[in-house]
Amino acid sequence: EVAEPGRMLVRQVGQKSIVITRGDDGELRGFLNSCRHRGTELAESDCDIAGTIRCPYHRWGYSTDGILKATPFFDEVPRDDFDRDDFSLIPVRVGTWGPLLFVCLADETPELDVWLGDLPERMAGYGFDQWRIEESQVLDIEANWKLISENFQEYYHLTWVHPELAKVSRVKDHYRYQGAGMYCGQTTTPVSGDDRDDWLVLPAAEGLDESDATSGRHIALYPNVIFSVLPNHVFVMRLDPIAPGLTCETCTLLLPPSTPELTGGELDATLTFWIDVNNEDIDICQRSQRGLTRGRIQPGPLAPRFEEPLHRFHNMLADCMTSDSLAGLTVPPGDDGSEAARLGTGPNPAPPTIEH
Ligand code: FES
Ligand SMILES: [Fe+2]
Repeated sequence: EVAEPGRMLVRQVGQKSIVITRGDDGELRGFLNSCRHRGTELAESDCDIAGTIRCPYHRWGYSTDGILKATPFFDEVPRDDFDRDDFSLIPVRVGTWGPLLFVCLADETPELDVWLGDLPERMAGYGFDQWRIEESQVLDIEANWKLISENFQEYYHLTWVHPELAKVSRVKDHYRYQGAGMYCGQTTTPVSGDDRDDWLVLPAAEGLDESDATSGRHIALYPNVIFSVLPNHVFVMRLDPIAPGLTCETCTLLLPPSTPELTGGELDATLTFWIDVNNEDIDICQRSQRGLTRGRIQPGPLAPRFEEPLHRFHNMLADCMTSDSLAGLTVPPGDDGSEAARLGTGPNPAPPTIEH
């Protein structure tokens, strides 16, 4: 989306609008989408800026690193108390991991590599940097973003909500995939347990080890990115909260670099499969929202075997909401095997090799 210099993205993060540029130096930078003159929105949607961010109102111009370069007619009456250097765009933190681009509005939260924990190392074998976007779709879901993430984190509902998926991705093939980091992870090994290989039509990425080549990884990265990694594609969902009961979900399907350009139709079965599964999830999340909103009951206990990730998620959420300072946020540790009896499943039977 922003691979080339000169491209600028516009994204909503909570109540704020952010622009993200890639400079000629290759650097990604993020700024508030507000002109430093009288605050006007700089861009409405993704665009090419050819090196200059121009405000549409009075044409103040900023370089891709946010520095104010042009103020038309402003010097006709010289003022000695005005220095352009004092009016750069307001920066926000950006960072990347593989194809994911992160924006953080707070200055004090832990660095992205601390936040991600062991994920980059754990998933290094996929070589995500080179994966490409193949399809994307934007959906409105009438549910709170947290319900959608929670639903993704557990496979307790698999048999009843996804009868077709459950034949392929069997309950008994699910395991924990939880290291340290602000995420909840699980894995399916083997990724397909019957003949219906709709999501394995395309070739697997080259160079995967045995574990990655036979597994599906399902990661809910706190707060609002959930994604499934299969040997041959990745399905990412970004959850943007619009209102307490409304979430905008952006779904993106990525393919590895070893997959040739598609000529048409090769992805149809996989896409249909995902759309069916996603629609089943959306339907049940909307029902959760309605039941919670209208019933207003106190929820009951979670099943440790299936729903421990929700507990982890709730703890991360509570920590973020109650910490005096996000600088001191504790990134939760991963499994050390000691909880296997209580949690009911051990780790992935073909675990990734992580050297410490
Ligand atoms: S508000 Fe942007 S140039 Fe005036
Ligand atoms: Fe589901």
